[in-house]
Amino acid sequence: MTKRGKFITFEGCDGCGKSTQLKMLSDYLTQNGIAHIFTREPGGGKISEAIRDILLSGKNMEMTDECEALLYAASRVQHLSDRVEPALQEGKLVICDRYVDSSLAYQAYARGLGYEFISQINSFALKNYLPDVTIFIDLTPEAAFARKKGADQNDRLELAGMEFHKRVYAGYDALAKAEPNRIARIDGNKTPQEIFNDVITLLKERDCL
Ligand SMILES: Nc1ncnc2c1ncn2[C@@H]1O[C@H](COP(=O)(O)OP(=O)(O)OP(=O)(O)O)[C@@H](O)[C@H]1O
Ligand SMILES: [Mg+2]
Repeated sequence: MTKRGKFITFEGCDGCGKSTQLKMLSDYLTQNGIAHIFTREPGGGKISEAIRDILLSGKNMEMTDECEALLYAASRVQHLSDRVEPALQEGKLVICDRYVDSSLAYQAYARGLGYEFISQINSFALKNYLPDVTIFIDLTPEAAFARKKGADQNDRLELAGMEFHKRVYAGYDALAKAEPNRIARIDGNKTPQEIFNDVITLLKERDCL
């Protein structure tokens, strides 16, 4: 039987550098012949990408917080069946741009729906797939927004304002403190190459590479 692959997720505030690191990691894994898939949440498959469009559209400003939380969970369970589960069973490394900690940071902490409610919804959605390693790129929203030079006008979540993003950051900080064995904090203030070196060191330490 093939050994189950490792499941790695990247988390952090908008603009903290996740996509930059994922691209570098993708090149590294390809060069080193390591079987892997890259995917993202919300999205990563036909149905879950359609849910992503509803969630992120600037046209849906009247969406309730509860609807938002349930749509994220719905997208997650579909994405697990479509992409994550099969790849892990084939022994591949699965790298996912955002996962359950985004729901906890954004919906539980920043929207104020509470850890209990979001955990409960996600206990259905996760199908027992907790990441082996979660990399939290630790960068404050102030620093991230300075890099991005302001909010993307088409992104409903980015338009929610700095106070919201500060609560997201505080949420990630609390999650990282609560689960230090799973969630590894990497300093997002360094250069992309320095951060990438830290990512590789960590993944080797955690037996993922
Ligand atoms: N370590 C870094 N130092 C300086 N600039 C960086 C660094 N990492 C990324 N950037 C720049 O910051 C911006 C945001 O980075 P990136 O898109 O990787 O973040 P993200 O976490 O994927 O954002 P989002 O949450 O919006 O998807 C980009 O312009 C990128 O080039
Ligand atoms: Mg990104």
